[in-house]
Amino acid sequence: MPSEHTPLLARVPVANPRPRYPHAVLRRFCTLALASVLIWFFLALALSATVFPDGHSHHGPSDRWTWPGCRRRKVDYDQLQRILLDTPDSARARQWSSYYTAGAHLAGKNLSQAEWTRDKWEEFGIKSEIVSYDVYINYPVDHRLALLEKTDNKAHHDHAATTWKVSYEASLTEDILDDDPSSSSPDRIPTFHGYSASGNVTGSVVYVNYGTYQDFEDLVRANVTLKGNIAIARYGGIFRGLKVKRAQELGMLGAILYSDPGDDGENTVEQGKKAYPEGPARQPSSVQRGSTQFLSFAPGDPTTPGYPSKPDAPRQPVHTAIPSIPSIPISYEDALPILKALNGHGPKADDFNKYWTRNTGLGYKGVHYNVGPTPDHVVVNLYNQQEYVTTPLWNVIGVINGTIPDEVIVVGNHRDAWIVGGGADPNSGSAVLNEAVRSFGEAVRQGWKPLRTIVFASWDGEEYGLIGSTEWVEEYLPWLNHASVAYINTDVSVRGTYLRTSAAPLLDHIIHAATAAVPSPNQTVPGQTVHNLWDKQIRTMGSGSDFTAFQDFAGIPSLDIGFDTAPGEPVYHYHSNYDSFHWMDAFGDPGFAYHRTMAQVVGLLAAQLADLPVIAFRAADYARALDKYVEKVEGQLEAALAPAAEIEAASLASDEAYFALRGSTRKQGPALTTTTTTTTSAASADSFRLSLKRLHKAIAKLTDHAVDLDEHANHLTEKSKAHIPWWNWPARLRLGLAIRKVNTKYKYLERGFLFEQGLDGRPWFKHVVFAPGLWTGYAGAVFPGLVESIDDQDWVNAERWVDIIESRVKNAREKL
Ligand SMILES: *[C@@H]1O[C@H](CO)[C@@H](O)[C@H](O)[C@H]1NC(C)=O
Ligand SMILES: *[C@@H]1O[C@H](CO)[C@@H](O)[C@H](O)[C@H]1NC(C)=O
Ligand SMILES: *[C@@H]1O[C@H](CO)[C@@H](O)[C@H](O)[C@H]1NC(C)=O
Ligand SMILES: *[C@@H]1O[C@H](CO)[C@@H](O)[C@H](O)[C@H]1NC(C)=O
Ligand SMILES: *[C@@H]1O[C@H](CO)[C@@H](O)[C@H](O)[C@H]1NC(C)=O
Repeated sequence: MPSEHTPLLARVPVANPRPRYPHAVLRRFCTLALASVLIWFFLALALSATVFPDGHSHHGPSDRWTWPGCRRRKVDYDQLQRILLDTPDSARARQWSSYYTAGAHLAGKNLSQAEWTRDKWEEFGIKSEIVSYDVYINYPVDHRLALLEKTDNKAHHDHAATTWKVSYEASLTEDILDDDPSSSSPDRIPTFHGYSASGNVTGSVVYVNYGTYQDFEDLVRANVTLKGNIAIARYGGIFRGLKVKRAQELGMLGAILYSDPGDDGENTVEQGKKAYPEGPARQPSSVQRGSTQFLSFAPGDPTTPGYPSKPDAPRQPVHTAIPSIPSIPISYEDALPILKALNGHGPKADDFNKYWTRNTGLGYKGVHYNVGPTPDHVVVNLYNQQEYVTTPLWNVIGVINGTIPDEVIVVGNHRDAWIVGGGADPNSGSAVLNEAVRSFGEAVRQGWKPLRTIVFASWDGEEYGLIGSTEWVEEYLPWLNHASVAYINTDVSVRGTYLRTSAAPLLDHIIHAATAAVPSPNQTVPGQTVHNLWDKQIRTMGSGSDFTAFQDFAGIPSLDIGFDTAPGEPVYHYHSNYDSFHWMDAFGDPGFAYHRTMAQVVGLLAAQLADLPVIAFRAADYARALDKYVEKVEGQLEAALAPAAEIEAASLASDEAYFALRGSTRKQGPALTTTTTTTTSAASADSFRLSLKRLHKAIAKLTDHAVDLDEHANHLTEKSKAHIPWWNWPARLRLGLAIRKVNTKYKYLERGFLFEQGLDGRPWFKHVVFAPGLWTGYAGAVFPGLVESIDDQDWVNAERWVDIIESRVKNAREKL
């Protein structure tokens, strides 16, 4: 209020003017001294403005003091949230979806789509560029799958006269549907597997169920001949490349993977539902393409493990990273004759155990689910021709520089697809990302500048093995190590209405906060939010999308979020021509309301991380989660020592439990029961049990420190909301530095759980807490070192991992 000052000054009695300083030198000295005091004063203010911008204040913008270098933020946090909620638009999301699904965009094949994305983001006001890598990938050339039967030509009693008759020639194509233009696109991509080997093999067929590690174990135990034969496995549960890997290890010649409608829940033709495009059931000719890389061993370009695929990068041999036997994906229509050829041969699935009769959905079509092998006179010929090349692929990277130079948030999704369409995977994510970028661009246009730098990424090559994101993380590792705060991924943003989330525990609570601020498209109950309709399940980070390099290799807390298929919703045609714009428009998200909603959620997630003075982490959530994970390991230890019958009973509870068990390498049967466990290993199991107690103790101490840190952080958040007058700049400075200190601790917490040598047999995976299950691929394993040691009953290694984890926990505690 300047009006108070002027009269005060006027009232000061003014003495006769006289030279204030008798000497010019002294005057100059005083001027300099005053100037330097002022410079220091402004510098300090500027610094306090950097570390403590008053963006999060209960006061209206008008009562905040402004000063050059410490200017009032034009768009505060509340206004930012409003922009991020108001900007996303369903019609625009639909428009982006329609663009991205208009043509083929297999990894490394569509530069124009990368350029278009970059130009759009620039148009939205976000500075963007294309970052490319030279990667080793395959493109399909030719294929064939046929069922052959031997016919003896009785006229000549002569071996050479034996001829093979083709009893079924698989179509290996998806039907053209009049309703769905993507299905007849001239650019449509053949059915094939990424990273599959070329080959021409002929042999008897063996039905291997889901092709999990335990499925193969069951077959070996039953003396079913695998070597020299060809596997037919149903899709589902575990990553497809691991099915091929195990078949290869057991000497099989090739692998055929098909989609069994038994896994489609209630929406099946058998149960009277119409198939797409007339209804919600699976289109019988639909084929799931996909990568057969050995994903749980290392993602990324298989020729450059751990370093970026720059043009001049040295290249490694690939045999441990991708299959050497050919494989081929087929529809259930094409699978029927092959499965029927198995009828009456070898044991029936239900001769094994209940894991073999789960969702056997083609019984009504005359399939008996015999295991085989087919007799010598009934074989399949699998021919697969792939072209391997080293070719550029293109990530689009957009950046909004923050005020704080060394705190960075990355928000991303991939752009490449197996098919021309990809309405859900990935283009629901591409459309959502575009709307989120456009919203942040709008905030920037209104004068907003984030505290932390935000990087937006549209990755290429995700489908082959998370290539674009992995190579980028490997290239920028030193910077990310130093500066990254978190990564947000939104692969398959929409394919239904069920909110699916997985996250590092540090980020759990921002998912709650963001979803609670966004209205659900479902307004059956007016005013209900996304949070209201969410089951509040947050999965642990596994793999299968671009967060993997961030979380498991670089130790950056990550989350993945999207609307998944809810029970009863239309079957989603994963990696098929029918994951198209038409499917999305007619079945997946008519009106694109869920696209808009996910753009709002992603915007608010990024805003919380990028624009609150104190980084929105909860260390205590992490510490408590660690304790739960140790309990989980204890459960797994007891289960491993329990009689097989008990293990089986416990593992049918959920899909997750089912595949966790079936995907483990754990030995089954008598060898596992306590009665036959040798005394020495029983003793070691006991000492391991005690070591786990020690781990609980270490984690309890970490929890105490974490709780303290969070309390301190909350306290600083409260303080930062209070108004500190400009003249009290030392207080502002102190607060700014205190926040900076807490943020640094939060920033490095996740990194503290990295172990330089990596996991056993897969050194690329460096996180001691999170990794994809070795033989599941998608699903997350916690404390993989411990779990794998239990499966192997290797108690020495188990103890070694307790020591490693304990040292990481202590290390984290000391840093807090
Ligand atoms: C690249 O994608 C665009 C947009 O989806 C499409 O129109 C174009 O045909 C594609 N280009 C190629 C070479 O497939
Ligand atoms: C962000 O800051 C970096 C480093 O100061 C600078 O090189 C870059 O051009 C800036 N980018 C934008 C989008 O302003
Ligand atoms: C595959 O091998 C068989 C012989 O084993 C041969 O008759 C056939 O022509 C081969 N197929 C192709 C496409 O090369
Ligand atoms: C498998 O073969 C072994 C050795 O030939 C035999 O001892 C065992 O009983 C067989 N198992 C079954 C289930 O046939
Ligand atoms: C919509 O909301 C209602 C009320 O909360 C709920 O019962 C229903 O299952 C929801 N429907 C969908 C598709 O989410």
